[in-house]
Amino acid sequence: MKVAIVTGASSGIGKLLAAGLEKHASFDELWVIARSEEKLKALQAEVKVPVRPVPLDLTDAESTGRVKELLAQEKPFVSVLINASGYGVFERFDRIPEKDVSGMTDLNCRALAMMMYAVLPYCGKGSIIVNIASVAAFQPVPFGAEYAATKAYVLALSRAANRELRPRGIRVLAVCPYWTKTAFFDRANGNSVITHFDCMYDPAFIAKKTFRAMKKKKDYVVPGFIAKATHALTKLLPHSFVMTVFIAQQKLGSRNFADKDS
Ligand SMILES: NC(=O)c1ccc[n+]([C@@H]2O[C@H](COP(=O)([O-])OP(=O)(O)OC[C@H]3O[C@@H](n4cnc5c(N)ncnc54)[C@H](OP(=O)(O)O)[C@@H]3O)[C@@H](O)[C@H]2O)c1
Repeated sequence: MKVAIVTGASSGIGKLLAAGLEKHASFDELWVIARSEEKLKALQAEVKVPVRPVPLDLTDAESTGRVKELLAQEKPFVSVLINASGYGVFERFDRIPEKDVSGMTDLNCRALAMMMYAVLPYCGKGSIIVNIASVAAFQPVPFGAEYAATKAYVLALSRAANRELRPRGIRVLAVCPYWTKTAFFDRANGNSVITHFDCMYDPAFIAKKTFRAMKKKKDYVVPGFIAKATHALTKLLPHSFVMTVFIAQQKLGSRNFADKDS
């Protein structure tokens, strides 16, 4: 049996990738992972192949053990893994709630790496792993310091693993979206100080570009013109200058100096 596995399939980019994947890859069953079981179950209405909801909180270190158990039980060929679960909190680092300091690294980094590690014994020629990173991966982002660092990890891990796994015929693709209109902001905005968005992409556009990139030989893709232009600027300009511009754009200069209660 061939399976595709999508984390973060209950919402946003991951949901659209899960719903559209059967048109772009071959598999008999779709395993979908997130915390909201009802939303995962609802995906069956949008997909022809059987959907297996695997409700898990991936910040829990034990959770990927459940995926390993399922794989050991079913012994499938994993043709696609998409790691789309992720979140960000945008605030000065010392003001981020402690649970999110560990939560962001647990979900965006540890769980993503453990999902890759769990599926690789079941992958082979033609398998592809798609990791959702961010344009934030390309340079440090003040007031998104940890989130950007987790995405730099995702990008570096994906690109190097892509090289390592080439002899096995397995590809790893990192997708680096710019701001995208999803529930990401419902969660981020609770504690977010980022308020200026010069552009907001549609998640359907990100999904379309991801499917297209899966057919090419790239190891990362930056979907959209503004996203590509931002990426180019981070290559051309000193990162310290880009950080200063970002802080000014977000009107966060005073926040660098304000004390805890201001
Ligand atoms: N939106 C943007 O501007 C943007 C830009 C660049 C990159 N990204 C990245 O794109 C990816 C998808 O985000 P999105 O924008 O589509 O946001 P979203 O709509 O909030 O989707 C996030 C997904 O992650 C799942 N998730 C969150 N916490 C989880 C946990 N503890 N365990 C398991 N799953 C969990 C959520 O499901 P449950 O809540 O049901 O668990 C949901 O399915 C993320 O990696 C994000 O960092 C987003």
